[in-house]
Amino acid sequence: MRILQLSDFHLRGDGRRSYRVTDTRRCLDELVRHLEALTPAPDAMVLTGDLADSGDARAYELLREALLPLCRRIYALPGNHDRRDRMRSILGAWCAPDPGIPEFLCQAVEDMPVRLLLFDSMSPGSHSGHCPDAAARWLEAKLRERPGVPALVFMHHPPFKSGMGAMDEPFENVAALEKILGGAPWATLACGHMHRPIFTRYAGIPAMTSPAVAMQLELDLSPEGGDTFRMECSGYLLHHWDGAQLNSHVCQIPGTPGFDGPYPFVDKVNPTED
Ligand SMILES: [Fe+2]
Ligand SMILES: [Fe+2]
Repeated sequence: MRILQLSDFHLRGDGRRSYRVTDTRRCLDELVRHLEALTPAPDAMVLTGDLADSGDARAYELLREALLPLCRRIYALPGNHDRRDRMRSILGAWCAPDPGIPEFLCQAVEDMPVRLLLFDSMSPGSHSGHCPDAAARWLEAKLRERPGVPALVFMHHPPFKSGMGAMDEPFENVAALEKILGGAPWATLACGHMHRPIFTRYAGIPAMTSPAVAMQLELDLSPEGGDTFRMECSGYLLHHWDGAQLNSHVCQIPGTPGFDGPYPFVDKVNPTED
């Protein structure tokens, strides 16, 4: 079973460049050309947030039109640049929330050999990660329902430190999240937000972040690092379950990386909802 994790598209519907530099529509087109030629086709795609750059409706429409023909199963989480209301209305079934906590875009996919648990860590107007009590209870209950069954837990914000100081912001209620994941050693945690691949352990389980579809974070392991990007190769993660083992592969998207930069991130917080 092949699950593609695609993250951080930062699409704009107004034709302007993201952070005044990046043509994220072109990044999407390059991704689509790559995925159209991918064999075998993935069994599912999970989009781990920052789908839009500023939450505009046209960005979600562009994403839906581009990806819908490529995969029968697509699931989506919000990042700090997204708006839940527009994701709900435009992406529909991709982010059908669990009826137990309809205010978040948490969902559990239970009919595959690996469970997909999508945890919504976004709070409108905030750049950093959040673990509200209701969402924490949902995740804990889901993991307890099927102990020992392999589970990929997806969220936008990584709860672990990256070493790049500007991105290592406080994560609200992270102790609860750590306790919950620590009680599920059969789970693997896969996040977005960092715009580059990082592999570590968190709460005793394998944990990682995905490259971005658009704009890779400049690797700067200083207290101020992590606040600029560079036009390296775009990429994604391919999670492959062979029936006994889960391997996560870093994949690159053919394009025209110039490795130019670093460029600063500006206007990096999502808009609050109406
Ligand atoms: Fe992002
Ligand atoms: Fe983000």
